[in-house]
Amino acid sequence: MFPRDGINAYAEEKCVDVRIERPRTNYSSIATRRCPVINECPVHFDPLSPEQLADPYPLYSRMRAECPVFYAQEHDLWIVTRHEDVLAVVRDTKTFSSENAVRASVRPLSASVLAVLAEGWPLSPTLTDSDGDVHRRLRLLVSKAFTPRRIQEMEGPVRQMTDELIDGFAAEGRADIIERFAWHLPLATIADILGVPRKDVPLLHRWSYSWLRLMQATDPPEELMACASDVVSMQRYFMEELRRREREGGSDLMAELLTARIAGREPLTTVEAMRVPMNLIIAGHVTVTRAIGNGLTTLLAAPEQLEMVRRDPDLIPTMVEEILRFESPAQGLFRTVREDTVLGGVTLPAGARVMVHWGSGNRDQSVFPDPDAFDVARDSATTHLAFGKGVHACLGAPLARLQLKIAIPRLLERLPGLRLAHGADAAVRDTIFFARGFKKLTLVWDAEAA
Ligand code: HEM
Repeated sequence: MFPRDGINAYAEEKCVDVRIERPRTNYSSIATRRCPVINECPVHFDPLSPEQLADPYPLYSRMRAECPVFYAQEHDLWIVTRHEDVLAVVRDTKTFSSENAVRASVRPLSASVLAVLAEGWPLSPTLTDSDGDVHRRLRLLVSKAFTPRRIQEMEGPVRQMTDELIDGFAAEGRADIIERFAWHLPLATIADILGVPRKDVPLLHRWSYSWLRLMQATDPPEELMACASDVVSMQRYFMEELRRREREGGSDLMAELLTARIAGREPLTTVEAMRVPMNLIIAGHVTVTRAIGNGLTTLLAAPEQLEMVRRDPDLIPTMVEEILRFESPAQGLFRTVREDTVLGGVTLPAGARVMVHWGSGNRDQSVFPDPDAFDVARDSATTHLAFGKGVHACLGAPLARLQLKIAIPRLLERLPGLRLAHGADAAVRDTIFFARGFKKLTLVWDAEAA
């Protein structure tokens, strides 16, 4: 074991500059630095292991205490675990680039997968993975179309959709709430905002998961090719929708993306506009799906907290924030170090990849007293990291909050005696490296009373 300074001096000496070729668009050739850093952290960070999928929080606590910024060799990632350091990274956009912000690994995709992607359009830059002026322009233009008013107008439709979905299974007394409810609601909401038909929602759901799997890039090559093919289909779908609006006009979000203007800046091209609905759909539905599942399981495991909200519905807004803090759907995202820098006393070399760990920062005892207690009255809306911070902070946070404030209380109200079904496969965790939530969540309730 090296002392902290020693390890960095050692790493510095051994670093080599390498150039990684990334054909075409997505990940063109970049210079990166490979350092034989020793994992000095005594914890084994493996988010997809059964133990960490079940309960990663004791490990996070050790990470914050023993090695707040450490190199996880297996993933070639520096993990940033304390609230303060996470903020330092996301606020220093000069040093920490958002390039590949959603890719845990930047190992080049195989030539066959790239060949499939080449049939579509470049995947980047999107809001999430762009920096500086490119990001500023995109964010300003998208914000012209994705306005607070548009979100407020969704309150009625979200209430109605919530009830319609619950009507579909309330009499059954048992349902996989992820499959029957949790992804339909956010996706149908975004589909309405974008102006695409609800009948296409299942297709958009499949394509979104293919995109996520492509970004994670841990599936076998044939499956990744199928994912890439889905992503290209999704691009074609939105290009077609946009071209129709170019011809016919319209008032939905996609039509407004095409007409959005800001002084002194180029409007969005059709290809740039096409990436926006993809970004909104993926960022905006897999997260809310997880928040619904995480929220229900957390509340059901804390009946006294649930009772408090039942007695005092004014607690619903803080309950939603607490669910997001306590079980953050996006556990972390990624940054690339542009130049050597020191963080938390550790030197990060240029080219290194960093995971900003929202999930760990949200349990940091220096910011949240008694952080492992779930407290529906805790007011952490401005301090928790679940929606990110800084220039890339979640654009859809008001929409997510609106949906969660409506959906979770309504499910609890309309499904009396709601509880987790028995059996090992009642609750199955999703295995996306940077996310936390359920793939399947079977709940039961008293159907006669429903
Ligand atoms: C509970 C639900 C949600 C969670 C936990 C969540 C989380 C996040 C986080 C952590 C970021 C920051 C990314 C970074 O710093 O690299 C982010 C960005 C973003 N989110 Fe969300 N999100 C949620 C819902 C939504 C919704 C409903 C939408 C839209 C329909 C949305 C759209 C976006 C977009 C477009 C960005 C990129 C903003 C930028 O880079 O400028 N999100 N989200």
